[in-house]
Amino acid sequence: MAKKRVAVLISGRGSNLAALIAAAEAPDYPAEIVFVLSNRSDAGGIAFASQRGIATAVVDHARFGKDREAFEREMQTELERRQIDIVCLAGFMRLLTPWFVGRWDGRMINVHPALLPAFKGLDTHERALAAGVKIHGATVHFVVPDMDAGPIIAQAAVPVAEDDTPDTLAAQVLKVEHIIYPLALRLVAEGRVTVVDGRARIAGRASSTSPLVVPEAG
Ligand code: GAR
Repeated sequence: MAKKRVAVLISGRGSNLAALIAAAEAPDYPAEIVFVLSNRSDAGGIAFASQRGIATAVVDHARFGKDREAFEREMQTELERRQIDIVCLAGFMRLLTPWFVGRWDGRMINVHPALLPAFKGLDTHERALAAGVKIHGATVHFVVPDMDAGPIIAQAAVPVAEDDTPDTLAAQVLKVEHIIYPLALRLVAEGRVTVVDGRARIAGRASSTSPLVVPEAG
């Protein structure tokens, strides 16, 4: 089967982008990262991708003022030009309108640094520490118009240590993001994920298994 053509949308560092690119180098990986789009020209991930020969573009949201759809129409033009099958949001820090989300229904996924539906939005690590949770983690989900609310494809948990700070916790969570994002993209690209009643069902996954990835404590 032809590999799915994937675009990764970023706003910054791009470590999840790097994890997706690394995974997609495996010959049997069902997707290839063919395009990286950023809303910020200084995003580290843009330089990283172009060094690897991947097409990149910057669509600066600030050029469009409050007109979010105009910003998204330009992104959409870029994505269509490159015949993209699947969009991965990887630290893309703009809220998307229902118009754009609708264009990519079932074909756009996001990584979020918390165990959804807990801690939607920003500053997840600070809020997890403030809440005193003992387990935190990361989620990959389909994107729907409501923020951080789409069907969950993969999650991974990390233990919260007594002396964790937002930064140390973020570093632990990021490690598992880099594991579950390539895994979730593989599942979606293989066509193994279907959404039934707002929940993602994964073909071939035994109903009795625990979460897809549970890293070791410590
Ligand atoms: C990641 O931790 C990702 O989960 C988070 O931004 C970081 C991007 O890092 N995304 C969000 O908070 C989305 N609301 P990266 O640029 O190194 O991949």
